[in-house]
Amino acid sequence: TTLSSRPTLLLAWYDRHRRRLPWRAAPGETSDPYRVWLSEIMLQQTTVKAVGPYFEKFVARWSDVTALGDASLDDVLRMWAGLGYYSRARNLHACAVAVTREHGGAFPDTEEGLRALPGIGPYTAAAIAAIAFDRHTMPVDGNIERVVSRLYAVEEELPQAKPTIQQMATTLLANARAGDSAQALMDLGASICTPKKPACSLCPLNEDCVARALGTQETFPRKAPK
Ligand code: ADE
Repeated sequence: TTLSSRPTLLLAWYDRHRRRLPWRAAPGETSDPYRVWLSEIMLQQTTVKAVGPYFEKFVARWSDVTALGDASLDDVLRMWAGLGYYSRARNLHACAVAVTREHGGAFPDTEEGLRALPGIGPYTAAAIAAIAFDRHTMPVDGNIERVVSRLYAVEEELPQAKPTIQQMATTLLANARAGDSAQALMDLGASICTPKKPACSLCPLNEDCVARALGTQETFPRKAPK
């Protein structure tokens, strides 16, 4: 397969197999930055499964960022109870207040602008920029590190390999659908390119995967001994 067709293969797979998750827009519809931001904060240290009901509760109570920005911190903390890592809830509220009061209720649409907000680090800024605004940037999480390190059989160990993997992951972005490209890799890592016994026969990138050709899938990503 040529290098340039990988993003296309990935998106074709995503269009057939994407997970239906509550914060994802219907195919072809634009994602609401508020919902994308809220889900990404919740997903920082919590599984997709555990986040689902909390996400639904939050958007039912506060339907947009200004509603959340006008809520009291106590109400937000009460609604967050059970999700853990409560600094996320404090930052969530501070961020909603900042977007409401300093940005007129509209999230910044660049990574740089997003990173200036409370609770939004480099990963989350890239995720929101790609998914909500289709900016050409790839948020690289643990799932994506695994997929990419196998595809290219990256011998360098994590965490040193992060910039290399980031660069390689960026080559998988489709020009017009950055957010879907990122979420396609997340879903591939969650459902097919799993840590143990990956289902390579079902993978849209299997013909290009160097680790698969070598039979060494499970040995990637390489990690520095702790
Ligand atoms: N983990 C973090 N962000 C995600 C997303 N948008 N979809 C699935 N898993 C995720």
